[in-house]
Amino acid sequence: MKPIQVLMVCLGNICRSPTAQGVFEARIQQRQLAEHILVDSAGTSGWHIGELPDARSRKAAQRRGYDLSQQRGRQVTVQDFHDFDYILAMDRQNLQALKAICPDGFSGHLGLFLEFSRKQSYLEVPDPYHGGSEGFELVLDLIEEAADGLLADILEKHPEIRAQARNS
Ligand code: 4NP
Repeated sequence: MKPIQVLMVCLGNICRSPTAQGVFEARIQQRQLAEHILVDSAGTSGWHIGELPDARSRKAAQRRGYDLSQQRGRQVTVQDFHDFDYILAMDRQNLQALKAICPDGFSGHLGLFLEFSRKQSYLEVPDPYHGGSEGFELVLDLIEEAADGLLADILEKHPEIRAQARNS
């Protein structure tokens, strides 16, 4: 069975999308679906290639039990549209940048990550980079909610994966 591949995308790939990757990985592991759903992250910019996620993101995530320390920054590529089934942008600016490089014939889902959130109080994950610690907590709150919605959506659309999921 071919795994479903999910790519989380922000601007720098050091704050929001690594957090989204770490949270979604944890959800996938809780349901014992690591073989069936793969997740990665990338930035639309190349500013932080090879870097660890921002220390503030790593600390905030660690306090909620998510480990971001194995991740390194990378820039999104056209090849990603061939490899991934879901390409999910943290905000509209990054969605526009992705649409600009999306090859004709891409058959996956390209959209905003927070569209999968059941709360939908926000449609964009605000960039926390230049702000205080409360911004990093908001990033986690929004991402946790959307990660639950995304997993529910994938399981609904893929009964073969749903059959493998451990109930939690
Ligand atoms: P991210 O946040 O897109 O969530 O990783 C940012 C990280 C770095 C910069 C901007 C946003 N920067 O200007 O370097």
